[in-house]
Amino acid sequence: MPDELSTTPLHPGSPPNAPWWRDAVIYQVYPRSWADGDGDGIGDLAGIADRLPHLRHLGVDAVWFSPFYVSPQHDAGYDVADYRDIDPLFGSLADVDAMLAEAHDLGLKVIVDLVPNHTSSEHEWFQAALAAGPDSPERDRYMFRDGAGDGSRPPNDWKSVFGGQAWTRVTEADGQPGQWYLHLFDVTQPDLNWQNEEVREEFRSILRFWLDRGVAGFRVDVAHGLVKAEGLPPYSRRDHMLEQRTANSPYWDQEGVHEIYRAWRAVLEEFTDPERIMCAEAWVRPVERLARYVRPDEFHQAFNFEYLDTPWIAGEQRAVIAESLRVNDEVGAPATWVLSNHDVVRHASRFGLPQDEPRPNGISAQDRQPDVALGLRRARAATALMLALPGGAYVYQGEELGLPEHTTMPHEHRQDPTYVRTEGEEVGRDGCRVPMPWAKGEPSFGFGPSQSTWLPQPEVYGDLAVDQQVGVEGSTLELYRTLLRLRRERGLGRGSLAEVDGFADDVLAYVAGGTDAPTLVLANLGGEPVTIPDGAEVLVASGELAGRAVPTDVAVWATLPTRTT
Ligand code: NOJ
Repeated sequence: MPDELSTTPLHPGSPPNAPWWRDAVIYQVYPRSWADGDGDGIGDLAGIADRLPHLRHLGVDAVWFSPFYVSPQHDAGYDVADYRDIDPLFGSLADVDAMLAEAHDLGLKVIVDLVPNHTSSEHEWFQAALAAGPDSPERDRYMFRDGAGDGSRPPNDWKSVFGGQAWTRVTEADGQPGQWYLHLFDVTQPDLNWQNEEVREEFRSILRFWLDRGVAGFRVDVAHGLVKAEGLPPYSRRDHMLEQRTANSPYWDQEGVHEIYRAWRAVLEEFTDPERIMCAEAWVRPVERLARYVRPDEFHQAFNFEYLDTPWIAGEQRAVIAESLRVNDEVGAPATWVLSNHDVVRHASRFGLPQDEPRPNGISAQDRQPDVALGLRRARAATALMLALPGGAYVYQGEELGLPEHTTMPHEHRQDPTYVRTEGEEVGRDGCRVPMPWAKGEPSFGFGPSQSTWLPQPEVYGDLAVDQQVGVEGSTLELYRTLLRLRRERGLGRGSLAEVDGFADDVLAYVAGGTDAPTLVLANLGGEPVTIPDGAEVLVASGELAGRAVPTDVAVWATLPTRTT
């Protein structure tokens, strides 16, 4: 511990009267897995409406729903067949309207998912493209090409993110093998042609459709993938689901995407009260490149996946936090912190794996198992650190319960197309998508009225159910509630951040400014306990303290001792 707290500034804080989204905490609901109203084993809007008060109780500002649109569900709804209607699995448009009203009554804003890179192959446009044949305006909305050579080979060597080649050949109306279409993801997810003006106009219209219904904004799927390089140059690398960010890729992070988002921003700005936002799902590296998506006339937010991907190693955490704030400040945008979502191994499990190895795409019973206790302890500390940082933050359903990944799911239950397309080489994302446990003693742990769940829940989810944690001192749920309350009261999301000098290298130490008195934030990633400076009063700790000592893998927030310089 240093004798005096001297600090190095990292971020000046948001401007006064900053809009709601600059420091919002947004909770991600994965509709299939949050709450099941009708007992068919798949979550739905009726279930969601019943459970929304949980989010009010938790203390988040908004909720983002992964897709609930009409879809054959080949990629859990990220294969949209109708962007303006709801899949009967989940309910109806009337149910969405009712849910929006309920959310607004609870003081929650609602963000919906927008999937512009590809449609479902069942979308009427794709069906029309198949019927219309080569060189038709219908085909021009997608990426159709003649095959190489005599037409029997794919037009180029691009690979699908989910495994296998990125092209599939169609059978033409005359029954003969014909053209090929591009699908960077599943064969049932044909890529749209974003050079086509009709495609652009259609998506601006879809934005208006949802904005008129009262949504506060959009999370934009594959925001870095819409535009493909002229001439579709060769590129044989397979950019894995979690590694879609190679600098010389002809389909990720092309310059042409930015004008699309500038046009969308103009649409959003036609709407006020509240200010409407869009958040980019863009797996772009390094963070400087990502910051280009949040320039003042583009996205409001972009998930900081570089941060999500950072191991629990002090030097790396320190560097990514400082660098993220720096590049966002340069364009006047808030940082957007995130630790888990429906595509990655839950952070309570990730942090229980060796931290010097790359993040796996799913964990199966055949793989090395995470250290559950260690993972949870670090996850709680990581969340306490994240929620102290200035900017917005996303929380993925179930992380407030400390849910681990389902790491022993029998393979026959797997539904992620990655598992099939990589022939089992990657188990994929089902383990983080398991239905939520609400009540230990009830069928499906209270997920729905029946025993049925579309993915099996591990036994341990019963002990972690909401009813086992509510009001229980020291539970992960109560920790999240306390962090969110203090974050709001102390204005941390819109405050400044400075690094405290003089602590050991493996301790992260910050002073977070805000609307109230500044907050001292300490996260101990080292092997030795760290002493909380004299005069600092502990506000919250992610784990048990030993007197005034912060043990390994624990984070605390405290008031600032008066002698800070
Ligand atoms: C990103 C989504 O989060 C993921 O779940 C989906 O499979 C791909 N985009 C394709 O839409």
